[in-house]
Amino acid sequence: SVIRLADYRPPAWAVAHVALEFDLGIDRTEVLATLELVRQADEPIRLDGEGLELLELHLDGRRLGEGEYILANGVLEVGVDGDRCTLATRVAVRPAENTAFEGLYLSGSRDAGFLLTQCEAEGFRHITFYPDRPDVLSTFTVTLRADKARFPVLLAGGNPDGAGDLGDGRHWARFVDPHPKPSYLFALVAGRLERISRDYTTADGRAVALHIWAEADVIDRCDYAMDSLERSMRWDEQAYGRNYDLDVFHVVATHDFNMGAMENKGLNIFNAKYLLADPDSSTDDEYRHVEAVVAHEYFHNWSGNRVTCRDWFQLSLKEGLTVFREQSFSADMNSAPLKRIEDVSLLRRAQFPEDAGPLSHPVRPSQYSEINNFYTATVYEKGAELVRMLAGHLGHQGFRKGMDLYFERHDGQAATIEDYLGALGDANGVDLAPYLAWYGQAGTPRLSAEGRYDEGKRRYRLLLRQRTPASAGQPNKQPLPVPVRLSLFDASGRALPLRLEGETQASAVERTVVLTGAEQAFVFEDIDAAPVPSLLRGFSAPVILECEYAPRELALLLRHDADGFNRWDAGQQLAGLAYDACRDGEPAGAAVAAWADALAGLFSDAGIDDALLAELLTPPGEIELVERQPERDPERIRAARQAMLRALASAIGTDALRTRYDSLRAQASAGLDAASQARRQLKRRLLDLLALVDANEGKALAAAQYDAAPGMTDRLAALATLAVTAPAAAEAPLAHFRERYDGNALALDKWFALQAQLPGDGALARVQALERDDAFTLKNPNRVQALLGTFARTNPTGFHRADGAAYRWLADRLVAIDALNPQVAARVATAFNGWKRLEPARREAAHAVVAELAGRKDLSRDLTDILARVALG
Ligand code: ARG
Ligand code: ZN
Repeated sequence: SVIRLADYRPPAWAVAHVALEFDLGIDRTEVLATLELVRQADEPIRLDGEGLELLELHLDGRRLGEGEYILANGVLEVGVDGDRCTLATRVAVRPAENTAFEGLYLSGSRDAGFLLTQCEAEGFRHITFYPDRPDVLSTFTVTLRADKARFPVLLAGGNPDGAGDLGDGRHWARFVDPHPKPSYLFALVAGRLERISRDYTTADGRAVALHIWAEADVIDRCDYAMDSLERSMRWDEQAYGRNYDLDVFHVVATHDFNMGAMENKGLNIFNAKYLLADPDSSTDDEYRHVEAVVAHEYFHNWSGNRVTCRDWFQLSLKEGLTVFREQSFSADMNSAPLKRIEDVSLLRRAQFPEDAGPLSHPVRPSQYSEINNFYTATVYEKGAELVRMLAGHLGHQGFRKGMDLYFERHDGQAATIEDYLGALGDANGVDLAPYLAWYGQAGTPRLSAEGRYDEGKRRYRLLLRQRTPASAGQPNKQPLPVPVRLSLFDASGRALPLRLEGETQASAVERTVVLTGAEQAFVFEDIDAAPVPSLLRGFSAPVILECEYAPRELALLLRHDADGFNRWDAGQQLAGLAYDACRDGEPAGAAVAAWADALAGLFSDAGIDDALLAELLTPPGEIELVERQPERDPERIRAARQAMLRALASAIGTDALRTRYDSLRAQASAGLDAASQARRQLKRRLLDLLALVDANEGKALAAAQYDAAPGMTDRLAALATLAVTAPAAAEAPLAHFRERYDGNALALDKWFALQAQLPGDGALARVQALERDDAFTLKNPNRVQALLGTFARTNPTGFHRADGAAYRWLADRLVAIDALNPQVAARVATAFNGWKRLEPARREAAHAVVAELAGRKDLSRDLTDILARVALG
């Protein structure tokens, strides 16, 4: 069945208060829920409930018999006369049997594991009967009771409100959350956990106890998360004037989690992958992710919790906004241009392909059959880009004014995208309604730019055009407002003052023009010679820019553009041209030389930051490059990319690469400061380049780096290079790594993922052998993602092998995973997304597999939904 935005109706009953009492047990937990209901419409009470054993039902204290309610299709219906009533249900659930990790479940083993919940989007209905929709907000009182030895720690969201012994070896604890919230923000945790704590005082004077909880073996890896949490709380006070609003804030780590993390009110729950960090088992990237995800979940306390979503179509209202807030925070904590490069790379790698295929959907979808399948790169990452455009449009202060009004006006409410644009607009006296079209239209707009210089009039005319390709259900697209931040450079690399036709004087060397229709020309005056335009600076709109640059123009931007992002992007565009040449069999062509020579020049420029240089030396990956390929043959893409990298290495010169690598190696440390991280990043690029031109030397250097590595970043990089360059020589270090990190789940995930990425026809057999490792299990989402997800999504030559064997193998595994955990199966299945644009043999093979799977009747709604859409191609 399909849920449609157009069918939205407000809830028929509101919940004024809910009291929950849990008698916790691993095999069986009983839940007593007492709901104070208030009528909003002339309809019976309807409560959602899935997989619940109903034990008792009471209306205003009177037990109801069989004929006094209807329980069917996941809905409990009770007819009531008055306008208020108290409805109580007692149910039993079975946590240990819950392998889907939705609702109440067990993390870890029966003997040592702990109980926890995941409710977003619709998990609460697996815990108790409730109007499980985000526009029903209520205050919660939660009482937990459990065996004291087995569950010494009892946690729920809200402020603590008493605890004690029950006398029979059991104990209890109560929590009261004064802030009305929807059911998806409910959480509890119970078991043997350790904690680290810190006192925090908010800017408005509230004393808050911060606690991070984890199992004993990993509690010493939580310090970085605690530091990140404190930085996030301070930042939200300063950047948005937002203070925390409870007396305690709990964060819990689990190894068994479907997603990254969850912002439950006062009790955030994290996939351990995004909370734990230590130099010996975490890479620099992982440290950054911990900081970002801790911030993301914390920021939800306002963008998501205090102001939540009216319905799940509005998901990006909280997710896009919170991703944007996290991006701004990370940019402030680290290097802003590098953060922008990282975010746009992710958008291009994950969101653009999603938006170009059968799973394409608007940031605000108009319909869904399974909401879990809409926690996508489009809703999150493209959604963040839309907020960024709005912020850019309003300017720093205007955006802050708008956000203040949004939080003030909608505090305690379940809001919509219209509410958001309304508040931002009202605070600034502007109409942002034109931007609403961005939320409703799927697909990545193509922005084409064509410049013409008129020597006689000393004018430069920039013609901008936009067009968005048709997508499923949206054959005709309308023009969107596209802000284009730009500068013009002269031949010496100087940015020119900009005066638009009709203006009396030049204002600045950078400005933003907004394309609102299908096409529009912008004329710049007083230009002495044909300039080179730097367009979409900072990636000012989430579009694909089509502009026919000559290689020397891109080389000029790569050398001189003051916008760090555009400087990098000029390099990416130039790399694209170099790739085209290699693909067409011209590795010695002009485009390759232009790219390689420009980078060789920058390589010897002492002023450039190591991390930026590392990014510049990295051309678009194989997955982004498929877009430049009419018929997709992963082997040919990889070969062409390798050829251009070889040209780059020889332009820089092996001696120069080696000298630089040696000096970076001499400075190796486990330091987490930006300079040390940047050195590691550059060192890794250089090692890869050296290994590509001379496998023997690469093998020796990588083996030595592995042995001497002071931390995980250097160790993993060396191992990856070694495994690609000299597979036989990698065997011993791989075995060493496996043994050294036995029992360290997150490190083992990296071991699986690294091997899942090794290219070529042998990849499938390798993955199948890894499935037989003792540490492999289909029950753990991180492990499945590390091996199967990494292989299917990031190893094009391995997964798309010509005979289709990997497709058939994955289909088989999807069925097995689906029986355990539908959400995980659905996510892995998105790897089939691009099948239609593969070259014919692979296309046939992939389609056969997808069509057969899609025809099965025994799969979950999650997986069925993805397959049905993917099958359409
Ligand atoms: N709201 C969480 C976040 O911070 C994600 C939860 C997603 N859960 C799910 N079952 N899809 O992004
Ligand atoms: Zn989120």
